Amino acid sequence: MTEGNRGRVKDMLGLRGLSREQLTRILDTAANFRQVNERRIKKVPTLRGRTVVTAFFENSTRTRLSFELAAKRLSADTLSFSASTSSTAKGETLLDTARNLDAMRPDAVIVRHPASGAPHLLARHFPWTVINAGDGINEHPTQALLDMLTMRDHLGDLEGRTVAIVGDVLHSRVARSNIFGLQTLGAKVEVAGPGTMCPPALAELGVTVRHRIDEVVERADVIMMLRIQRERLGKAMMSTTQEYAALYGLDEARLRRARPEVLVMHPGPINRGVEISPEVADGPNSVILEQVSNGLALRMALMYLLLGDEGGSDAAA
Ligand code: NCD
Repeated sequence: MTEGNRGRVKDMLGLRGLSREQLTRILDTAANFRQVNERRIKKVPTLRGRTVVTAFFENSTRTRLSFELAAKRLSADTLSFSASTSSTAKGETLLDTARNLDAMRPDAVIVRHPASGAPHLLARHFPWTVINAGDGINEHPTQALLDMLTMRDHLGDLEGRTVAIVGDVLHSRVARSNIFGLQTLGAKVEVAGPGTMCPPALAELGVTVRHRIDEVVERADVIMMLRIQRERLGKAMMSTTQEYAALYGLDEARLRRARPEVLVMHPGPINRGVEISPEVADGPNSVILEQVSNGLALRMALMYLLLGDEGGSDAAA
């Protein structure tokens, strides 16, 4: 997070460096916001008169819909910008696009961008709140927060719990944000995947690196499966889809080796039959759609803390 004028936390750029108290405050606030989404009238006036822009320079389904709906449920005006249908496709640079957004005086801009660090650049240049909705292979803080909220619902305190993250960890901003946040909350993170997607250097982040998925599945309280980030992979990084599924996919046979109550998670989009079988994705251990519901409450809570008048100078602290 970065601080703006008068010490108020201005942006949410990543979970690296956030304290346990900051994370817990966001998760507790999200748990409270859930009840708004269960009402018949699912709207509160918190951000009335404020403008929230979603600026997505990469594809998205869940994250973008979730941020837009979260802003609307807080009564903000929302605008959405997407690179594929905008002047980015005509060659306009990120900073020029942002200068034009700035001229319209938004209060917050939610940014997804293929370049790691793009939201940080905007946060330094502009007065509005920037929320990182995924930057390259760096971080995706709101996804990790909604993942941790979902884990907390089922497991309570995450201290001492073991979370296995399986697949293309190297290219996953979801994995990185989870690694930072989970470790701060006292959980142990084990990662598994092929050497090209789970290199030994990941141990520098404090995680245990393994290459056989069965080794991590047996011990885990949570198994988080990841999509292969084909758009970020070099050509030599993978053999065939069938071989990947056989060695690293989570199917029913493999899940039988896990604890009976293990949570199966996935940030989506899932590739059925590749990293996860349809039976497991739709099975009793899967909390994949709970993650989506929690994402809405989490994003409402975060915007309330960063932008709401009640949030105060140490909103997310
Ligand atoms: C992820 C992302 O974009 O980083 N999806 C998401 O936001 N829910 C994961 C992915 O694309 O595989």
